[in-house]
Amino acid sequence: MAVSKKKIVLIGAGNVGHHLGHRFFEKGMSITQVFSRKITKARKLAKAINAEAINDLSLLQQNADLYIIAVHDDAIASVAAQVASILKDKLVVHTSGSAPSTLLKPFFKNYGCFYPLQTFSINKKVDFDQLPLCIYSPQKRNRTKLHHYASSICPNIFEINDHQKSVLHVAAVFTNNFSNHLFHIAKKITETEGISFDILKPLMLETVLKIQHNHPKDMQTGPAIRGDQKTIERHLKLIENNPDWVQLYKLLSEGIQKI
Ligand SMILES: NC(=O)c1ccc[n+]([C@@H]2O[C@H](COP(=O)([O-])OP(=O)(O)OC[C@H]3O[C@@H](n4cnc5c(N)ncnc54)[C@H](OP(=O)(O)O)[C@@H]3O)[C@@H](O)[C@H]2O)c1
Repeated sequence: MAVSKKKIVLIGAGNVGHHLGHRFFEKGMSITQVFSRKITKARKLAKAINAEAINDLSLLQQNADLYIIAVHDDAIASVAAQVASILKDKLVVHTSGSAPSTLLKPFFKNYGCFYPLQTFSINKKVDFDQLPLCIYSPQKRNRTKLHHYASSICPNIFEINDHQKSVLHVAAVFTNNFSNHLFHIAKKITETEGISFDILKPLMLETVLKIQHNHPKDMQTGPAIRGDQKTIERHLKLIENNPDWVQLYKLLSEGIQKI
């Protein structure tokens, strides 16, 4: 299949829509339309990748080869329902890590998932040569097609079924969302005392580098794993004005000791 001649429509111009759009464009693929409910947002992305911007789903072109729904997880079904009658026979995928491909089954004959396992924010460039791109469709012919599209933008393709993907997504939430939240708390703690957050950055980096070649359990350090109870109590005293942090500190310390 000459994928470079294929037409792709992006439904969603948020973090993932933005990065997928740019990557497909850089790789010479044709993104023909970009949808966002906000026309300014659709226009911004569409202009950069030479596509048409629309803010009305009834204006979707019907001659594209792949339709990528990259909207909030909870909006996927309602967007799919709105375009079902015009895209009935088309190949339609969503980019969610947690939602199954079968969310699209009531609406389309050909459906699947196109889930890039990475954290995307519009203003931060992402290296598609490093990230895993998880694809799935219950239909073999569509898995083959998705493989072609995926390999045009990324060398690391994984065929992962719906159950595996949702489990993987839980692991991804622990890996990225929760650790990022902890970094955010650390920033608040340092800044309350007038200390620059930058002082913690080498530690953050080393935390991640260490586990590239070692088991996380073996790399755990700190008062919880050592059982230094007096240190734990001192820490809890220092954050006692924030009951959420106290609760989180206790829960994580117990987890470290139990796992
Ligand atoms: N960000 C990540 O790191 C990441 C990684 C992998 C997969 N994903 C998945 O990719 C999908 C998009 O995530 P994202 O981070 O790109 O989200 P996002 O930046 O918040 O963008 C999602 C877009 O969904 C649109 N939207 C929300 N409700 C809608 C509705 N009812 N009808 C139509 N459009 C609606 C909004 O567009 P308008 O308001 O402009 O219309 C919004 O810009 C999600 O399924 C997510 O799970 C995200």
